[in-house]
Amino acid sequence: MGTALPAGKLTNFDLEKRIDTTNEWILDRTGISERRVATDDETTDVLATAAGAEAIKASGIDPELIDLLIVATITPPQKLPATSAFVQDNLGLACGAFDLVAACSGFVYSVVMADSLIKTGGARAALVIGAETLHTMVDPMDRGTVILFGDGAAAGVMVPSAPAYGVLGSDIGCDGSLANILYVPPGAEFVQMDGKAVFRGAVRACVQSATTALERAGIKGEEIDVFVPHQANTRIIDAIVERAGLDNARTVKNLDKYGNTSAASIPLALAEAQPNDGDLVLLCGFGAGMTWASAVIRWGTGL
Ligand code: ACO
Repeated sequence: MGTALPAGKLTNFDLEKRIDTTNEWILDRTGISERRVATDDETTDVLATAAGAEAIKASGIDPELIDLLIVATITPPQKLPATSAFVQDNLGLACGAFDLVAACSGFVYSVVMADSLIKTGGARAALVIGAETLHTMVDPMDRGTVILFGDGAAAGVMVPSAPAYGVLGSDIGCDGSLANILYVPPGAEFVQMDGKAVFRGAVRACVQSATTALERAGIKGEEIDVFVPHQANTRIIDAIVERAGLDNARTVKNLDKYGNTSAASIPLALAEAQPNDGDLVLLCGFGAGMTWASAVIRWGTGL
């Protein structure tokens, strides 16, 4: 895996000076202390390229084996072409490349897509990246959203594995009837959110999705060694852990440092968690759409 984080930081104390809020309120309601903010030069493709390059290096594989590049993002630097085209060129890859738009579920959606193509022989290896510059989508004066979101990128290289390793079970879903709880109105610049509705929908969707993925994998919640939920809000994560029968001590949280980085959030937390070979890992994301996605992974290749 590889990560790329802008150096610029926006702390709760910085926000106290800008909007009507306090460090205590933000910490108590979200668990977030600070977020990273990209400069104008650190566009989503730049962050994605840096994370992708680090992941390829860490994997030690020959980049010529990479037949597929997926960039999960909702903050492309431009409408056309896809961000993945720039990233592919920057990394010197020769492969199929596309962007995947599923908001904060985007990275797990991408893992499921890449896994399917690798298992069916359509790709020898895949580079999967979650990358965002969310500050471009958030009204800097809206205290309901600016406290939550941050910028960053993270990537992973996926390769074939023995049958008992890799993605053992997964679930992807979307309920488009909830599109209006988290969206950018047509022609508008900034995101609008019904925070309470997102909170309720996220807990419900994640518990259901994680349970489905675990059932498909034939794994029980208590067997999970590393649970990596979408890093949106520590209260949402706590509710999911409790209702899905997971273990708080095995749950990864790094949102205090980065906030909600949408498609980058799960791979950033996964990269920092550094699972051991053979660990059972559960990824679970939810986001605008409303989308959700879960994957149960036996870490390593077993080969
Ligand atoms: N600072 C201080 N006070 C605030 C702030 C703030 N930043 N924001 C709201 N308040 C006030 C409100 O005005 C309200 O005051 P009142 O009681 O006098 O009316 C009070 O605090 C409570 O406000 P709520 O909106 O009810 O606060 P809530 O407990 O719901 O927390 C939050 C808001 C943190 C946004 C929460 O709803 C949440 O995290 N929801 C999920 C959001 C999320 O995860 N979105 C991303 C989804 S993933 C994706 O796809 C991008």
